[in-house]
Amino acid sequence: MKKISVNAIHEFCPQAMYLYGTYKEDGNPNFGLFSWFGYCLDGGVRVMAAVGSGKLTSDRIRASGVFSANLVSESLLPLADYCGNTMGYDEKKMDIPVNVEKGAVLPVPVLADSPWTYELEVERTVSLSGSDIFICKISNVLVAEELPDVNIPFDERLRRAAPAIAFGGGYYAALKPGTTGKWGDWKGLREAAR
Ligand SMILES: Cc1cc2nc3c(=O)[nH]c(=O)nc-3n(C[C@H](O)[C@H](O)[C@H](O)COP(=O)(O)O)c2cc1C
Repeated sequence: MKKISVNAIHEFCPQAMYLYGTYKEDGNPNFGLFSWFGYCLDGGVRVMAAVGSGKLTSDRIRASGVFSANLVSESLLPLADYCGNTMGYDEKKMDIPVNVEKGAVLPVPVLADSPWTYELEVERTVSLSGSDIFICKISNVLVAEELPDVNIPFDERLRRAAPAIAFGGGYYAALKPGTTGKWGDWKGLREAAR
């Protein structure tokens, strides 16, 4: 493969997307779209969420210390794209049909139609210029009941969850169902190459 060098742009960052849910000051829910999302270990699995300042989601996470992260599936893409391109400061942003429920353990709004939702509590905030990385304890994971069922083949569970992927270059993509292997399938690669 012949490689070329390009500037440090985020075009080559394929990521799952989450709709972050917070309650506004008036008690109504707001959702924003976020893809700069990752995991780390700090005495248990933690979520790392990078959120730009000057957004309602950032204000509300800072004020409440809690939020939900709802996986974006292919069927949630229209809502996700809308929430990612409409500022929460627009008071009418959430005047759209959306199925919202309450978190099971935290005071956060949850999207009923998302395959899985993290209920997150901010433990630490790393402030960068123009954004924050919120390192969060996962207080609960709400999952569509069939997804943890190991009796259903993984491909089928993936097809049902249908997570959508965002590329920095401005495109959304579907994660085509079809397992390509299991963890450890290639651990003997060195021996096989001999
Ligand atoms: C595909 C996509 C991914 C995004 N990811 C992020 C992100 O990771 N961090 C961020 O600060 N903004 C991100 N945004 C922008 C926010 O969704 C946008 O600023 C939105 O208005 C935030 O909602 P709010 O104003 O209700 O907080 C993304 C937008 C799109 C379309």
